[in-house]
Amino acid sequence: MRIWIFSTPKQAARVLAGDIARAIVENPRLVLGLPTGRTPIPLYRELAALYRKRAVDFSRVTTFNLDEFFGIDGDDPRSYRAFMQRHLFAHVNVKPRRIRFLESRPPDAGSECERYEQALRRAGGIDLLVLGLGANGHIGFNEPGRILVARTHRATLTAATRRANASLFGNVLASVPSEALSMGMATILGARRIVLLATGQRKARSVERLLNGPITTRMPASFLQLHPNVEVWLDRAAAVRLDSGH
Ligand code: GLP
Repeated sequence: MRIWIFSTPKQAARVLAGDIARAIVENPRLVLGLPTGRTPIPLYRELAALYRKRAVDFSRVTTFNLDEFFGIDGDDPRSYRAFMQRHLFAHVNVKPRRIRFLESRPPDAGSECERYEQALRRAGGIDLLVLGLGANGHIGFNEPGRILVARTHRATLTAATRRANASLFGNVLASVPSEALSMGMATILGARRIVLLATGQRKARSVERLLNGPITTRMPASFLQLHPNVEVWLDRAAAVRLDSGH
């Protein structure tokens, strides 16, 4: 895995936005996989700035979000769909029909997950998948535990993840859904290029384990070690536990 360390989250976001813009210039039909969370917000701000400067055109790009809460309305302001609209899609020219999401309240969760996998296959797979990192080592909503699920599935959230997401729900833990739909580990590892973005000291322990620890379902991000084209983009705070050799 290649590791990039930047002095601040903003600098990492700026360079990554430039990198994504270049990838879109090279392939205007790029299929992008996107995360939610606090970490990618500066990245989305930089992408919007590049769009305003006409440095990038998203009109033929397709996006697939990694995950969505289960059981809340899609237009609920707390949904990941609404989050993406606020932070990215309202500010750039991705065509609404090319913005793909898992439905948060599908009639049948199993068929919804299958539909998503099919849509991904039909789009030709993900060219560039940007990932955040849960402080507990999760990616998407693939939580640490005894097992991992290969494909898009309905997932139960751990208490730690529900606490980490509580700010979206007015800091009321009881309001945070206990389930979500998420791409699975094989869906994630099927992306041609993966960029994991982690900033802040809260992520330092997971970053160290994902890079240097054993591959284990207790640290879902460690499975990225199996992928031939992964980059880990960090700020100094997230990199504090790595040797200076990195
Ligand atoms: C949520 C998302 C993850 C994301 C994680 C980290 O749980 N499902 O995809 O990576 O939050 O969030 P943050 O960037 O706010 O630390």
